[in-house]
Amino acid sequence: MCGIAGYIGQRNAVEVVLDQIERLEYRGYDSTGVAFQSPEGLKVLKRAGKLGQLRAVVADERPEAFVAIAHSRWATHGAPNDLNAHPHFDQEGTVAVIHNGIIENYLEIKEELTRAGHVFQSETDSEVAAHVIGLEYGEGISLEEAVRRAVGKLEGAFGFVVISMREPGKIVCSRNASPLVLGFGEGENFIASDIPALLPYTRRVAILDNDMVALVTKDGISAMRSDGQAVELAPFDVEWDIASAEKGGFEHFMLKEIHEQPDVVRQCLAGRLGQEEMTLLGLFSDHVWHDIDRVNIIACGTAYHAGLMGKTLFEKMLRLPTDVYFSSEFRYNDPLLSPKSLAVFVSQSGETADSLAALRLCKERRIRTLGIVNVVGSSIAREVDRVLYTQAGPEVSVASTKAYVAQCLVLYLLGLHIAQVKEMPGVDVRKGLKAVRGYPDAVQEALELESAMQEAAKKFLDAPLVFFLGRGADANVALEAALKLKEVAYVPTQECPAGEMKHGPLALIEEGTLAVVGATQANTRDKLASNISELQARGGHVLGITTKDDGLIPGVSDTVAKIPATGDWYLDALLSVVPLQLFSYYMALYRGCEIDQPRNLAKSVTVE
Ligand code: G6P
Repeated sequence: MCGIAGYIGQRNAVEVVLDQIERLEYRGYDSTGVAFQSPEGLKVLKRAGKLGQLRAVVADERPEAFVAIAHSRWATHGAPNDLNAHPHFDQEGTVAVIHNGIIENYLEIKEELTRAGHVFQSETDSEVAAHVIGLEYGEGISLEEAVRRAVGKLEGAFGFVVISMREPGKIVCSRNASPLVLGFGEGENFIASDIPALLPYTRRVAILDNDMVALVTKDGISAMRSDGQAVELAPFDVEWDIASAEKGGFEHFMLKEIHEQPDVVRQCLAGRLGQEEMTLLGLFSDHVWHDIDRVNIIACGTAYHAGLMGKTLFEKMLRLPTDVYFSSEFRYNDPLLSPKSLAVFVSQSGETADSLAALRLCKERRIRTLGIVNVVGSSIAREVDRVLYTQAGPEVSVASTKAYVAQCLVLYLLGLHIAQVKEMPGVDVRKGLKAVRGYPDAVQEALELESAMQEAAKKFLDAPLVFFLGRGADANVALEAALKLKEVAYVPTQECPAGEMKHGPLALIEEGTLAVVGATQANTRDKLASNISELQARGGHVLGITTKDDGLIPGVSDTVAKIPATGDWYLDALLSVVPLQLFSYYMALYRGCEIDQPRNLAKSVTVE
């Protein structure tokens, strides 16, 4: 989840890599550093804290280098301080190395090297890797060969970028599990851990595959496998515009991304809807859907909450047994996997380490796999049997909003697809298509609740605890809405199906407590109205979120927000997340929180 940048060319290299790192700030980090070639030799500057602290040191130095690498670190080994920040030198100071990921066998190597007289400045696994690379970089060995040999000795997940004064015209990088992207320019070339860092400079990129070492010079990029065999890279042009990776007039990426959702829905549906039928390209052949007896959805965080929506949908609409697992739990619980089952991996980044590990387990067990992924060419997208892209565009805010809506929508489209293939009686695919066609407008209309949510946020700014309740699909959305509030506004939440309150959580309700109640599901509204009375009888204040055609809940709620009725229970429930995302955003804003990069969290969690 750390940010990596590398540049070689005619520009001021340090400025370029720091700019690249700034564009990766959304990943979350706690220290930054840069290495560059100077007339006095290889120089490293690094600082704990935000990029501004490093920039101040760099301004004093005024480096004029043509080769530089930079890093933003999210601590995994050792505290976030100056010493542990990257880049790291090897024992002789010959190479400077930045590293993303975790070296699993670093302790044993460190002990061995310490016995041999090596001295380490930091507590990191990354510095150990730098020493290993330095040791391999003996007389007559090229930098790329040294890196190739070194990675053969290191176990775990990594993306490395290495420079040396001995071969000043080179940057060498290598990856295993941690993403690295190469950017092609004219007389200059780039490296980054993620595409947005390259977009201001070039659209021509290639993804570095696992177990590859790339040699980047100003004139070209070549690559080899870890066995030394040369491989062709496959560059492609990125179609995202730079503006879509920038804030576009909003104060925060989170708000911008919430407002992008009508377009995200359009993009997500693009090319997939016909009048009578829908087309999801690249899926399994029709007979496979008849064979599948069970679905396991595996994901983390917000993507897990999308998975819960998938479960409710598949079971209700398709009568297809579906379980949802946290990726981090799945692998260690010796999961029961029917050979006829389908494992669905939902992931915005496509790089989440726990989800990748679970995917690999399913592949070992020869289970069919399908990815629902946002980042094209990411690890999960490449390793699953089939992939459906969410087509939501880059999501910068750590708290996921538009990716969630797109994930839930793709699950809905998948449900319709399966129903269509299996010609399921009782499922009106045409009706579903009609509802979905009008969905961008419905999302647009739901956004009009912004000022109402601003007001609600002002009113409940100091709430010590907020309840999120619902029934059926609304209970799934309650989990996601609560996660948003925790993530960005640091407000403790209690979320559960509304009927479960009286079995314990009701004890926490006292005068003035806020309960946000999702009430889009018509079949349980009567019961929900009773639950609301139970809350109010104990002094709770109820903010009801319901559809415009609901004649019951507005009458019993203390405050109500009405979303348009889409004619589909699933899409209604999903729509209710839009005002709740806005509620969390404004709670965070008024509470003075760092919205796009909440404390302690990262956008893409590439360690298990
Ligand atoms: C992190 C992010 C969450 C995200 C989760 C899963 O925790 O902060 O927003 O939902 O990872 O990430 P993925 O990329 O697999 O969807």
